[in-house]
Formats: sequence, C-alpha cells, structure tokens
Amino acid sequence: MESILQNQSDNDIKEYCQLVRSVMEARLDGRTPLAFTHTYGCQGNVSDGERINGMLAEMGFGFTDDPDRADFILYNTCAVREHAEDRVFGNVGALKHVKNRNPQLIIALCGCMVQQQSVADRIRASYPHVNLVFGTHVISRFPELLYRTLTGGKRVFELSQADNSICESLPVRRDSAIRAWLPIMYGCDNFCTYCIVPHVRGRERSRDAARVLSEARDIVAAGYREITLLGQNVNSYAVKNAVSSDGEDWNFPKLLREIDSMEGDYVLRFMTSHPKDCTPELLDAMARGTHTAHHLHLPVQCGSDRVLKAMNRRYTREKYLSLVRMAREKMPDISLTSDIIVGFPGETYEEFQETLSLVREVKFTSLFTFIYSAREGTPAARMDDPIPHSEKAKWMKELLETQEAIAAERCAAMMGSRQRVLVEGVDSRDDSLFCRTGTNIVVKCMGSAGMVGQFAECEITDAKNWVLQGRFV
Ligand code: SAH
Ligand code: SF4
Ligand code: F3S
Repeated sequence: MESILQNQSDNDIKEYCQLVRSVMEARLDGRTPLAFTHTYGCQGNVSDGERINGMLAEMGFGFTDDPDRADFILYNTCAVREHAEDRVFGNVGALKHVKNRNPQLIIALCGCMVQQQSVADRIRASYPHVNLVFGTHVISRFPELLYRTLTGGKRVFELSQADNSICESLPVRRDSAIRAWLPIMYGCDNFCTYCIVPHVRGRERSRDAARVLSEARDIVAAGYREITLLGQNVNSYAVKNAVSSDGEDWNFPKLLREIDSMEGDYVLRFMTSHPKDCTPELLDAMARGTHTAHHLHLPVQCGSDRVLKAMNRRYTREKYLSLVRMAREKMPDISLTSDIIVGFPGETYEEFQETLSLVREVKFTSLFTFIYSAREGTPAARMDDPIPHSEKAKWMKELLETQEAIAAERCAAMMGSRQRVLVEGVDSRDDSLFCRTGTNIVVKCMGSAGMVGQFAECEITDAKNWVLQGRFV
C-alpha cells in the first residue's frame, strides 16, 4: 500500500498568511478585514469550510454575517445535485451589486462545484466580478492564491487535478463550541453511477491514524460534547493506503474503538457508512462502546435489486435488510437513517414500490430524500430517463407520506419515555432548547440558555407535527 504525502508545508502556509495580513493592513489602513464565508453541501464540505476559516483567522480576518460589511466573500460550493448549483449561481449573480457598492471587495468560489471544468468556464465568461476560483485539491494553497489575487491584478483560477495528497497542517476555526467534525478520509472510489463526488473529490485516501487520534484527543480536551468522524465511506478507512508509520494494521472499527476509549463526557458519531462495507465488527464496536451513539446512517438509495445494480451500489436489498436485522439484534435501541433517490433513470413505478416496501419494513427514524438529478460526466446521465419530473414528484410525495406515518408512530411510542439528550441550542422563535438524543432525534424542552452544551435527562411529554416536546427531569 502506498502512503500519503503532504502537499504544502506548514511554513508555506504561515508565510503566505503573514503576507496576506500585511497586504490587507496596507489596503485598509490597519482596520481588521472582515470575511463573509458560506458553505453548501455535506459535513465534509463544512469541515473544509472550517479549515478555510481557520486560515482566514490566521491571515488576520474577523468574520461577519453581513455581505455588505465584508472585504472578502467566499462561497464553498456543492455539486451533488443541480438544485445546489442553481442556488450558488443565483447567489453569486446577486453579489454583482455588492461589488458595485464596494469595488475593493474580493469574491472567491471554491468547493466541488467549481472543480468541474464546465462550471469554471461559465464563471470565467459570465461572472467577471468573481476574483478567485479554486478547486477541492488545493485548499491548503488558499493563502497563496489569495495573495496572488490581491497583488497580481488579475483573476486567479486554480483547478489542479487530484494529486492524492492530504494536507495535515491547516488551522481550524470550528463553527460550533459543542459539536466537532473530524475528517478521517477524503475522496471516494465507489463511483455510484449517479454521483459526481468521485469526479470532484478524487481518489479515496485515509488520514494517518496517529493524527486522527491526536485531533480527537484535542477535541475532547477542549470540551466538545460531540465528535463526528467524517468520510464518504468511513467503512473503508485504511483500505486504500497505509495509515500508520509503525506498520500497525488499522480498519474503521478499530479506529472507532480507540477513540471511544478516550475518557470524557462526549458522544461519538460517524458518517457515512456504505452498506457494502458495513461489517459485524463495526456493529459490535458500536454496541460495546461507551461513547458511540446507537445511530447508523446507512444510505440504501432504493429497494429494487435491478436499480441498485444500475446504480453500482454493490449490495442487494436482502443484504441491506440482513444488516438491519443484525444491527437491531446487537442494539435493540438503534436508530437507522438513510438516503433515498427517487426516479433513477429507467426506474419504473413498480420498482419504486419496492423502495416504499423497504421503507415500511425498516421503519427508519428519518430519511433524506432526493429526486434524481443528472450530473454531467456520470454514467447515469447517459442512461434513458423517460419518466417526467412531474411524475417523479408524485412518487416523492408518496414516499414522504409513508415516512411521515412511520415517524408519527415512532413519536407516539416514545411518549412518556426518559431520554438522555445533549442541549444544542436555543430556538429564538419560542426560547425553547433544541436537544438531541443519542439516537439523533430532536426534542424541544423549556429551560435556561445556560444549559446549552450540557447533557440532561428529559421525559417526552408531547409530539406535535413530528416534533417531540420534553420536560427536563
Ligand atoms: N457517500 C455517501 C453519500 C454522499 S452524497 C453514500 O454513499 O452514502 C449524499 C446523498 O446524495 C447520496 O446518498 C444520494 O442519496 C444523494 N445523491 C448523490 N448524487 C445524487 C444525484 N445525482 N441525484 C440525486 N441525489 C443524489
Ligand atoms: Fe457518491 Fe457512491 Fe461515493 Fe457515496 S459512495 S460519495 S454516493 S460515489
Ligand atoms: Fe456536495 Fe462535494 Fe459534499 S458535491 S455533497 S460538497 S463532497
């Protein structure tokens, strides 16, 4: 197995941060420059955004929620569905007016969407107010690229292809003081036929185990209450490259057990698990752990074997259902969530009914549901897709109604039960507290804002519109 290289040294990053700091100081007469950044897409992208914000802080930037006050605006984009891209184009178009009011403003785009050549070309041609565009493989070069944008007098486009490296030395500015994202791997090698991720994120590569463990220790020591290990397919951690310098063998269940054994008051989560690599060893590690939540996000995508094969998911309906049975044997309280695509090219209404019957059989806690969206360059985009969108929308409605009935049943069954929850924040609309069970179910309780960040016991008292209400005990 090959090992993974680093692609930018600590010194380079620090040096360019310092250079940007000086340029901005001169530009703004010593006033603290303000950045407005926004991330779209998955938690992996959110985690990248936290590292970009970490570099901005290192460059002397403060942060603002108001684009009109910003000296630097960055959108960290997602390409997974067309709708995600349309939103970005709309928002970037609107920035033209902000730039008119503040010609010194620097506008940058990064992330999965701009890693596609066609998108980069469109921005080059039609969005001249965008100054800097950089892809997913050069995040560690952001300080250098921003420096070139500020000093070169030209727009900068940097979309290098994957070099299979991981940069370990980026500073992080986490969005939350309670929940921390911890990436354990990058990229994806699964090439599901509908999916753009492997094309924009490059080949699967896992981080060094010692570095992951040390970041986990730091997160626990800093008092975070929840750690979520991230990867497109965490179950294949350490499969594609060596992850320890001392030659020790690693796999995901072992990593989970190691982190779980760290002392502290925290919940350990992970996502995403690909069903084809989900093993009894992983379920045992979850069942026996002291910190690991009994929640498994296991995207099934659809319930028909023919469609699963066309999606290149490499498991069958029966294999999925047997994993669900095994998980429930080992953890009777386990909460299962999933992703579902409705209307994959060539899917018939009868095949969609197999998805519905699977959803009824498994009784997921919640679902993330998507109407299929064709992504340029993927095999599915070249398949015949005769069902009109309006018809797929009807199927989607049927799926949502089915899931709502299941959720209502689950809520009713939880009435009167006691739950340990993490208090995550305040709902400004009614001053109630957002709390989350280990099984990833949201409960709203009345209480003081001082409880945010603490674990508490509550009793479920009511269920309205599938939102659980509780009372602290
Ligand atoms: N790696 C994860 C999924 C990452 S993308 C996994 O394999 O489970 C998150 C979800 O977006 C996918 O699970 C899928 O349901 C959905 N998705 C991905 N590509 C899509 C497309 N082209 N159209 C509609 N939904 C899509
Ligand atoms: Fe996309 Fe499949 Fe990889 Fe998930 S496993 S990111 S759905 S290709
Ligand atoms: Fe979107 Fe990229 Fe994540 S395409 S879902 S932000 S890996």
